[in-house]
Amino acid sequence: MRRFRSALWPILAGLVTACAGSSDPGSDLPADAPPETSGTADAAPDTDVPAACGNGTCEAAESCRSCPDDCPCRCGDGLCTFGEFPARCPEDCPEDPLAATPPMGWNSWNRFACDIDEGLILETAEAMVRSGLRDAGYRYLNLDDCWQVDRLPDGTILEDPRFPSGMEALARQVHDAGLLFGVYTCAGTMTCQQRPGSYGFEARDIATYASWGVDFVKVDWCFTEGLSARERYPVFQRAIDDLAPRRPIVLSICEWGKSEPWIWAPEQGVGRLWRTSGDIANSWFSVLVNAERAIPLAAYAGPGHWNDPDMLEVGNGALTPDMSRAHMGLWAMMSAPLILGNDLRTMDDDTRAILTRPEVIAIDQDPDGLPAVRLEMGPPQVLARPLARDGLRAVLLLNPFAEESHEGTVTFRDLGLAPGLMEVRDVWADRSLGRFDGSIHLEVGPESSRLLLVQGREPDPPSGVWSLADMPWRHEAFEAVAARRNRSASGDDPLLAPPIRLEGKTHARGLGVRAPSVIQVHLGGRCDRFTARVGVDDQAPGEASVVFQVFRDRTKAWASPVLRKGSAPLDVDLDLSDAWTLTLKVTAAGDSPKGDVADWADVSLRCR
Ligand code: GAL
Repeated sequence: MRRFRSALWPILAGLVTACAGSSDPGSDLPADAPPETSGTADAAPDTDVPAACGNGTCEAAESCRSCPDDCPCRCGDGLCTFGEFPARCPEDCPEDPLAATPPMGWNSWNRFACDIDEGLILETAEAMVRSGLRDAGYRYLNLDDCWQVDRLPDGTILEDPRFPSGMEALARQVHDAGLLFGVYTCAGTMTCQQRPGSYGFEARDIATYASWGVDFVKVDWCFTEGLSARERYPVFQRAIDDLAPRRPIVLSICEWGKSEPWIWAPEQGVGRLWRTSGDIANSWFSVLVNAERAIPLAAYAGPGHWNDPDMLEVGNGALTPDMSRAHMGLWAMMSAPLILGNDLRTMDDDTRAILTRPEVIAIDQDPDGLPAVRLEMGPPQVLARPLARDGLRAVLLLNPFAEESHEGTVTFRDLGLAPGLMEVRDVWADRSLGRFDGSIHLEVGPESSRLLLVQGREPDPPSGVWSLADMPWRHEAFEAVAARRNRSASGDDPLLAPPIRLEGKTHARGLGVRAPSVIQVHLGGRCDRFTARVGVDDQAPGEASVVFQVFRDRTKAWASPVLRKGSAPLDVDLDLSDAWTLTLKVTAAGDSPKGDVADWADVSLRCR
């Protein structure tokens, strides 16, 4: 996908205002049969749709990945695709690795703060089951601060008398309800509410939690004067990894983004999610602020390591229905953990409907785990992400302002789709908007959003040997500098960028990137070989250090050691074995990524 700045926003001809469309009732996920076409402009010739796909018959050469209209994807078909995630299709989407998709559940803090007890937790467990939240994917029931009161003389943590049956019994009852159980602690000497912290007791506390059957531990950062997050969080992760017998416990890093854990935590395998900002508050402004901190960090998150803009405030009384849908949609676009923060026992039907909307959950839980990137600052802002189904993209238009509606345009070329007609579905309106060519133009109301699913076609990789610099990409994410085609990413001005240089040799072709960088291309099972020469660009500052990774579908096929300025470049030559997608990642090897200029020189694919 391509990113544009709002100042460059073109006035496009042939815009279509989508105001009416056919209704598409009763479908939880994008309809397996295409919704009816509403009359729209710029009709492209139907030859843009492959002849076999869409004829209603699932033929031998088709699969649910390439032709979901003809061959609907189903749990148990061996493919983990859009709409399928561990809580829904465990047979296709294995739970291992832990937090392969963003954790979903409930936490006591936003609504109840310290006012928690055993009765509330049991009633909440019951409400999660009764309301359908559990079956929609919300599985963790997490206690926040104030459940602990003291330590026994031997150092064992003691629960507050408001939990008279004890944590082991509570965890058992939560598990009996088909849920997972989480607790909270703090890396400092005390929790933020001045209950006993875990400093000096890390391994002991993790062992105690494990003996209770805990599945999730949130570790806060109060009372940590003089301590380093980079040193203290690994102590908790090691304690989890060393548990015997093994117990998969999700470690949630909650140091409010102060040490930029997105840079160091995934490199060290520490934590499965990390807060990107301070605490969310029950207001529209706070939702926007926390989203704004996390959106630019898209390139750091992925399966097993997620940006956490904090828990949801939907259902807590301050957000309008439009704001609540925007909040939920934003979190889904960001692949954020969906940890609810409202009173589930008294939740009204409208709130429940927002929180359990299957398509929105499917976007959040998409197994490819590529968080949205911002295409436009707007207003309205435009965010987009590819999903694990050929030609499918999620797009969010957001109008943060109260004063007036704003009109926005989604240009399909920017979504990395092949030219042709796109089927556009309005997720919250639960209807098809029709088929569009080129772009769609939509109005977004004040303090509101539009969430779309756009179904088009992936561009086929050309046959023969091709440079990735000459192909369209399905997705690109970066923090500060976009990848450059056939140029180094050194220097500020892409137009004046020097050629790629590795070990004194200039490479006319390749991709110049700056960590973090994620690039995904569609292969469609048609390519068998990937080659490149990789290294830190000669023009990078001296302290640069990077790690290159290549993913064949969702499996890591190759990773470099840490390469620094002056390290010898490495040659990569990989069999692609009918892979559907290829993803290239460059990370900053645990350091600040600012100067890390790296090259995929002579990067090419051989396709049939
Ligand atoms: C904050 C944390 C909140 C909540 C609170 C409890 O530091 O960010 O999510 O856990 O502490 O005291």
